[in-house]
Amino acid sequence: MNIAANPVVEADQTVYLKDYQKPSFLVDSINLDIQVYDDHTKVNSVLVMKRQTAGDLILLGRDLELKSIILNGKPLSETDYTLDAEQLVIAQAPDQVTLETQVIIHPESNTQLEGLYQASGDLFVTQNEPEGFRKITFYPDRPDVLSVFTTRVEADKKFPVLLANGNLMEAGETGEGRHYTIWQDPTKKPSYLFACVIGDLAVLKDAYVTSEGRNVALEIYAEEKDIPKCHIAMEALKHSMQWDEEHYGRPYDLDNYMIVATSAFNMGAMENKGLNIFNTSCVLADEEYTSDAAIMRVQSVIAHEYFHNWTGNRITCRDWFQLCLKEGLTVFRDQSFSEDLQSAAVQRIDDVAVLKAHQFPEDSGPLSHPPRPDHFVEINNFYTATVYEKGAEINRMMSTLLGKVKFRQGTDEYFRRHDGQAVTVEDWVAALTAGSGVDLSNFLTWYNQPGTPKLEAKGEYDAAKQTYRLSFKQSLKAHPKYPNLKAVPIPVALALFDAASGEQLSLQSAALFENGVKDGVYLFDQEQATIEFSGVTAKPVVSLLRNFSAPVNLEFNYSDEELAFLIQYETNGFNQWQATQTLLERILLEGHEAGIYIEAIKNTLPDLVEKDPLLASRLFDIPTEGYLGSRIDSEYQPAVIQEQRNALVNTLARELGAFCKETYAALDPELQHEFSQAMGVRALKNIMLNMMARQGDTSAFDLAHEQYQNTGNMSERLGALKVLVWNDAPQAKDVLADFYDRFKEEALSLDQWFMVQAAHPKATAETIQVLTSHADYDLKVPNRIRAVSGGLNANPVNTWSFGVQHYIDLAKYLDEKNPIVGSRLLQVLSRWYTLAEPQRSEVKAALEALKPQVKSKNVSETLNSMLSV
Ligand code: BES
Ligand code: ZN
Repeated sequence: MNIAANPVVEADQTVYLKDYQKPSFLVDSINLDIQVYDDHTKVNSVLVMKRQTAGDLILLGRDLELKSIILNGKPLSETDYTLDAEQLVIAQAPDQVTLETQVIIHPESNTQLEGLYQASGDLFVTQNEPEGFRKITFYPDRPDVLSVFTTRVEADKKFPVLLANGNLMEAGETGEGRHYTIWQDPTKKPSYLFACVIGDLAVLKDAYVTSEGRNVALEIYAEEKDIPKCHIAMEALKHSMQWDEEHYGRPYDLDNYMIVATSAFNMGAMENKGLNIFNTSCVLADEEYTSDAAIMRVQSVIAHEYFHNWTGNRITCRDWFQLCLKEGLTVFRDQSFSEDLQSAAVQRIDDVAVLKAHQFPEDSGPLSHPPRPDHFVEINNFYTATVYEKGAEINRMMSTLLGKVKFRQGTDEYFRRHDGQAVTVEDWVAALTAGSGVDLSNFLTWYNQPGTPKLEAKGEYDAAKQTYRLSFKQSLKAHPKYPNLKAVPIPVALALFDAASGEQLSLQSAALFENGVKDGVYLFDQEQATIEFSGVTAKPVVSLLRNFSAPVNLEFNYSDEELAFLIQYETNGFNQWQATQTLLERILLEGHEAGIYIEAIKNTLPDLVEKDPLLASRLFDIPTEGYLGSRIDSEYQPAVIQEQRNALVNTLARELGAFCKETYAALDPELQHEFSQAMGVRALKNIMLNMMARQGDTSAFDLAHEQYQNTGNMSERLGALKVLVWNDAPQAKDVLADFYDRFKEEALSLDQWFMVQAAHPKATAETIQVLTSHADYDLKVPNRIRAVSGGLNANPVNTWSFGVQHYIDLAKYLDEKNPIVGSRLLQVLSRWYTLAEPQRSEVKAALEALKPQVKSKNVSETLNSMLSV
């Protein structure tokens, strides 16, 4: 075999945090001139730079055709610099440099959706985080180089909209049917936050006056037909602006804020300064076309990107190892925002469900890494559940421990110290510590080591002494790359309940305070510790880790009866839900009786439906096959899990039959005034409908068909569609055809049509084949790929049979066309090593066979890590 033709990720491609060095040159200003033509784009730039430390002048650049380069007025010849595929280096540059370059790039053939690319016939956009700017011009493309950007954009007048960051300074015509705009962004920013947009788009306008009295013009750009679907996003944006003023004292700092929607986008959305670029899936929202879950997501992504203006843009990352500094904090902030939009308990449930379904498995397998990694090959591979979700949890733990007031003092100090800077995780923790007066430095351990800690707890009641003792122990699985794992600080929020009355006991007595339990939170920061509650007159029921106060695997020997008790009496909605999940896992995996769960649900539901219908609907969450599989570390047999889960759903459907019928009939979302409540009622109705249909009840099919036909709401329509299609109802074919006809011009709704079919419990290789050969299937649109691939993955039995080749073929194809997305899709197979034989060896062989066929750093790094178990 020819080794050179089999590129593997070599050791020298790895970047290490310990090797960080300051850039030798800083950039005071950059003038960019971007001229878009049909078959190429010219980019001229003028960089004004000055030396900061000794060393060469290094400009990063990729896929750029260099036309000319002038240093301090003198044209350079090829002997004045060295140029390779990644960088242009000028040795012995003077301390003050004005560098002019001209390059040609090709956005019209850029399929990677990184840098400047043509998103559709009439739209060009940029995506520069983390390292896309080097595909636009030569530049020290790293987040610790901050500069003032002035941008001229020129194109044919068939593209009426020409946008860039900051304030519009000038606009005019250049002749030959072309026009231009000039924009200046007054705040210094790193290159990854640069954006420009050239296109034919319509706009929705609004305005917001900040607490400082600044009048901000708000604009959302989208295709003309989609403008009516931008109102929810616009409301969410204004709400976010106000929320950040109220909760963090952070008003907006520019006179405009623009959002541009495109269907060709690798991710959800991007926080470019004053000019966010969004996947249409994260902007467009309308009850008729968008499910409730997707509407919630739009609002939280709008908030997320807006919140980055302070946590990410004004204070940015020193280097990409610090990514969780901006993402973890911003996710924590958007989660808190969303807790105000809907049932706070349900928001927490959803966030923890994502954490447990994605981050926990990631952290227990070959892709495990600390929230702040210390090395990487391709940074795009590190926008992970660990960086985002575990990163958010670390911030949440510190905020839980500090409480509202002190946490705010800490964040105020962070903004005071570091506004305008590129900083590290240490800077963040130090500022929180200084502002709050509470030493949080041991939380750095959470950032620096991988793995989900196991938290073992034991409870012991002494009737004679009237004491209740709780002992805790923490441990981490050994990790080959991180030998020195340390104990971490774990805030354990807890409550004790009187078993007879269901009342919560007060923990305010002095004895309890001395134990270190403050405001219901015990900070467990040793390897082992015991606390004792005195004056406890009867054996209590304890509820641990309320609201999921730390990202750990809790082991506590609850009896089934205690779990049923918590379902009924726990006032923390999250732990109420957690009790249902623990109980259901036991029924599923350990063969416990289902009766006790059913009884608890029946007792709890009537009141809860009144109070919080959304939470009520979540008490029916049955752990997915994927989640159950992710809890199994060896000898995993997807078909066995499927069988066990089906058996449970059937039992529940049978035992709850009459109850479901009554509940379905009694619920009416129209009677609810608030979106969150109506959403809950719709969710509950869909669950009831599915339970009825599970038993093959044809009247349930009729009800579902009626619901499908008579509604104008996507959650109701989609819910009914799933019930009919997934239960093979006689009406299934008709409603699928109807859905297609209604929504064939609506890409995001059509994604749902693809998803529903791909996720059919009995989908076969042929089902997927038919979908991927459909005229509307498009490998250039990541959303469409994800609709089918994500749907397929709803059934692990399929993922691990014919799905393996599906994902491998996609990764191979995308390796060149769009390696960012290719690498992500391949990760679906990362738990191959947990499978029972012969599947385990089969998947391994298929992955090994892919290895010599891929070239991108993205896909090869992922593949190598996946195979390194
Ligand atoms: N900064 C990211 C966008 C991004 C992601 C850029 C990956 C480059 C690579 C943005 O703020 C973000 O985090 N977006 C998320 C959604 C968010 C609500 C968590 C996304 O795109 O999935
Ligand atoms: Zn983000």
